Amino acid sequence: MGLEDRDALAVLQAAFEDAAAPQSASQQLLNRFYTRWFALDSEVRDLFPPELASQRAAFGQAMHWVFGEFVAQRAQAPVAFLAQLGRDHRKYGVTQRHYDSMRQAWYSEMRSHFSDRWTPAVDDAAIQAVNLITGIMGGAADAENGPAWWDGTVLEHHRVSRDLAVVRLHLDRPMPYHPGQYVNVHVPQCPRRWRFLSPAMPPDPDGFIEFHVRSVLGGMVSNSIVAETRPGDRWRLSSPHGALEVDRDGGDVLMVAGSTGLAPLRALIMDLCRYGENPRVHLFFGARYPCELYDLRTLWEIAGSNPWLSVSPVSEYSSDPPWAADYPDVQPPRGLHVRQNGRLPEVVTKYGGWGDRQILICGGPAMVRATRDALLAKGAPPERIQHDPLH
Ligand SMILES: Cc1cc2nc3c(=O)[nH]c(=O)nc-3n(C[C@H](O)[C@H](O)[C@H](O)COP(=O)(O)OP(=O)(O)OC[C@H]3O[C@@H](n4cnc5c(N)ncnc54)[C@H](O)[C@@H]3O)c2cc1C
Ligand code: HEM
Repeated sequence: MGLEDRDALAVLQAAFEDAAAPQSASQQLLNRFYTRWFALDSEVRDLFPPELASQRAAFGQAMHWVFGEFVAQRAQAPVAFLAQLGRDHRKYGVTQRHYDSMRQAWYSEMRSHFSDRWTPAVDDAAIQAVNLITGIMGGAADAENGPAWWDGTVLEHHRVSRDLAVVRLHLDRPMPYHPGQYVNVHVPQCPRRWRFLSPAMPPDPDGFIEFHVRSVLGGMVSNSIVAETRPGDRWRLSSPHGALEVDRDGGDVLMVAGSTGLAPLRALIMDLCRYGENPRVHLFFGARYPCELYDLRTLWEIAGSNPWLSVSPVSEYSSDPPWAADYPDVQPPRGLHVRQNGRLPEVVTKYGGWGDRQILICGGPAMVRATRDALLAKGAPPERIQHDPLH
């Protein structure tokens, strides 16, 4: 039966049920799987960053979803997902040999995890499923002729506020992506720690690219980029993902950007500038302090020559902290919309649910959740709201 045995597949799926919950049974299983794998193949450990918690969760959640699709006997979505994952895994230096050792470690660990519940039917399903998963990933990686990554040199690093940096690079060769997508980024200060960043401009045929980075409390890579990135640093970029888009025939648009969540929306707005006529776009750009509204000047310049764009700055606090004096140009020029005080979810929904708009929300996970919930509570239809995955 193997891959047609839905009961056996459901048994295997259940092992990854609570993969995201720390200390859960799934996490313990994943812990043992990685330990076994690294013992079996010492080379593979060096592909991963030192801390594995988020990796265990991502791997376990992917397994749970893929097995769920197998249980439902759906093939198209998991095949597409695994093929893309395999192509994306090339940047980590994954080879066929690693897939072989992974398969072996996974099978042995699952078998010992299930112990006397390991029936011949479960055995059959497990072997066929892990062969299929690694076969699709490895096969897609081998079949892909395009580059696994794009290297580039940092040209400028502007510390635009205490916790914010704008970084401009020139890539050795232009990278294709859609405006509004995010990419995986590797910086020399943090080996093997890839993070998602959203280009703040549309793809450029000459290879220029810009990122906006905010340091998060205790965050390793973001603090390093904001404080330590220097011109001349070599960055590696890979795997554009994400589906944020403005449908130019889909009616007027509401955009809500929290801090560097501005980046992908700015790329979409810049892309719209190519057209003479666009739907109306209303952008709320929010930060904690007025001085952190770091890119208002550009936004107002765009709005000045593109009447379809309006920009509403919002800050949580009405005045700047003492450290703002360390960063020049903290007073943005006067614009059409005066700055409002408050948190984005409350300020945006003061005007209703924006139910007639295409709604795009970008920012930290807490801000995106709160803004989405506030809009839904005011009647915005869920299918009109877009945001990136909340990793
Ligand atoms: C689709 C997507 C696009 C992104 N685009 C950008 C971008 O353009 N610019 C940018 O600055 N960041 C962006 N991020 C966030 C970025 O990928 C990193 O997660 C963030 O920089 C933290 O990484 P770190 O290594 O500093 O923190 P870590 O060392 O990974 O985490 C340290 C602590 O910070 C918390 N944390 C992680 N991310 C965030 C966050 N976003 N907000 C608040 N707390 C967090 C973690 O839960 C943890 O407690 C994006 C994230 C996603 C998922
Ligand atoms: C030879 C086998 C594999 C190797 C060596 C490998 C290695 C890696 C590495 C190094 C990372 C980055 C970790 C980080 O940045 O913290 C990663 C991420 C990830 N892996 Fe794998 N992996 C393998 C197989 C798989 C399989 C079979 C799956 C699931 C079906 C999977 C799912 C994921 C996911 C979801 C992520 C996070 C998203 C991403 O970075 O693309 N991996 N893997």
